[in-house]
Amino acid sequence: MELYVDTADLAQIREAVSLGILDGVTTNPSIIAKQKRPFKETIGSIAELVQAPGKVWCEVIGTDADTMVSEAKEMQAWAPRVVVKLPMGAEGVKAASRLSKEGIETNMTLVYSVPQAIIAAKAGAAYVSPYLGRVDDVGWSGEALIGDIVQAYKDLGMNTKVIAASIRGPRQVLDMFRVGVDAVTMAYPVLEAMLNHPMTEIGLNRFLQDWKEAGI
Ligand code: E4P
Repeated sequence: MELYVDTADLAQIREAVSLGILDGVTTNPSIIAKQKRPFKETIGSIAELVQAPGKVWCEVIGTDADTMVSEAKEMQAWAPRVVVKLPMGAEGVKAASRLSKEGIETNMTLVYSVPQAIIAAKAGAAYVSPYLGRVDDVGWSGEALIGDIVQAYKDLGMNTKVIAASIRGPRQVLDMFRVGVDAVTMAYPVLEAMLNHPMTEIGLNRFLQDWKEAGI
């Protein structure tokens, strides 16, 4: 079971890494753009925070296979444990097939159907990222989609890992592990919501208040 935090915010990453439970960081062009810093600099800063063996997933910007492949190799040279996200589609699949034959780990992202997931696995992608929240946002069932992907991989004996993405809250994290995903990536507030509970805070405050009043 792998946990990733979906952000390029260094303060959030530093706090999440300090928990000692993280398998890495995932980013996408929108997440990177929010930092308003050069891509390479942002990834380098993230890689300095993410301790080995944590992965730093970063997505290519190119829209044709040749550009994706050259970007992937360039990004890998930016920092240790940088791994490549490729957008699902013909060009991304071509790039994944080429990169996997060179032993370069890839994650096919923006996956929204079982056929897409099967093709991604066949192309040798190490991970696929189906977008749970965005499927739910349009009134379909992200859980059903991702459960079907997990089942199809089992039925077909495919070893590609499923990392559920676009997570909207702790409940969805639990649902995803229940349907059998290998990993989830979540925005930092979702990780915080997993960590905290009002009853825990109330209980701890009661302990400390009782202790203080006892004067021992
Ligand atoms: C993975 O990194 C995805 O890009 C990310 O989880 C998308 O999340 P969103 O749907 O909240 O933008």
